[in-house]
Amino acid sequence: MKEGLSQMPGPIGIFDSGYGGLTILKEIKKILPEYNYIYLGDNARAPYGTRSFEVVYEFTREAVNKLFEMGCHLVILACNTASAKALRTIQINDLPQIDSERRVLGVIRPTVECIGKITESRHVGVLGTTGTIKSQSYPLEINKLFPDITVSGEACPMWVPLVEYNEANSIGADYFIEKHLDNLRYKDHLIDTIILGCTHYPLLLPKINRYLPDGVKVISQGEYVAESLKNYLLRHPEMDAKCTKEGKQLFYTTEAEEKFSESASLFLNQPISVQRISLE
Ligand code: DGL
Repeated sequence: MKEGLSQMPGPIGIFDSGYGGLTILKEIKKILPEYNYIYLGDNARAPYGTRSFEVVYEFTREAVNKLFEMGCHLVILACNTASAKALRTIQINDLPQIDSERRVLGVIRPTVECIGKITESRHVGVLGTTGTIKSQSYPLEINKLFPDITVSGEACPMWVPLVEYNEANSIGADYFIEKHLDNLRYKDHLIDTIILGCTHYPLLLPKINRYLPDGVKVISQGEYVAESLKNYLLRHPEMDAKCTKEGKQLFYTTEAEEKFSESASLFLNQPISVQRISLE
């Protein structure tokens, strides 16, 4: 086991490349308000979506290590790109060396599990970063559970920068949103369910809904990930006992503090105080 890691109970770590994971934290807090959380956004190095496997893995591993050093025993990668490109390697190669009792969970599996009950046409679309779509993680995971579902993916490389640079509500955003939704529906016009396979995308939801016809359902991951975490903690009382429960949250970013607290406070509808840290 890595030296210096505390065995005392600690908060649940929530990691994303930037603000997107807040969409997950928000839903988790609704159904698990009594737990303590540490949110870490690697805003200085976002977006991850266009980066290589090696770089996403390296950055994610640094973030997970930092959250473990801060006392977390359980870390949620509230980021599809990191879940697609780094989760498995961290679980298989890194955790046994760091501490085989600690856990890192992702957001793809909980999202995929719900899809079988939602689509009627059995044609599903996935919107995600270039990294997530190229990894084929969604079609592979969906078809493991539901071989009858046809999955089409569309990478939306401009959507994360729109959120990170606070342009989600600008007129300029409409162009990129309409373009990728049209591309996806052109690939398969039978799609009746679209997964927002990037935790940043729910922040674009009002505009996304504007460009979709009635009858196409849009799946944001937050509530499914939250429900899955709740079940996980029920099934793993030994992990639950390692999670502190005082209803507190701490926020960390690798970018400027003012920038993060302004955007995060708006999003969570509460004042956020945040501390800047370095992961390198
Ligand atoms: N929010 C992340 C995701 O779910 C990462 C986006 C990015 O940094 O490109 O994929």
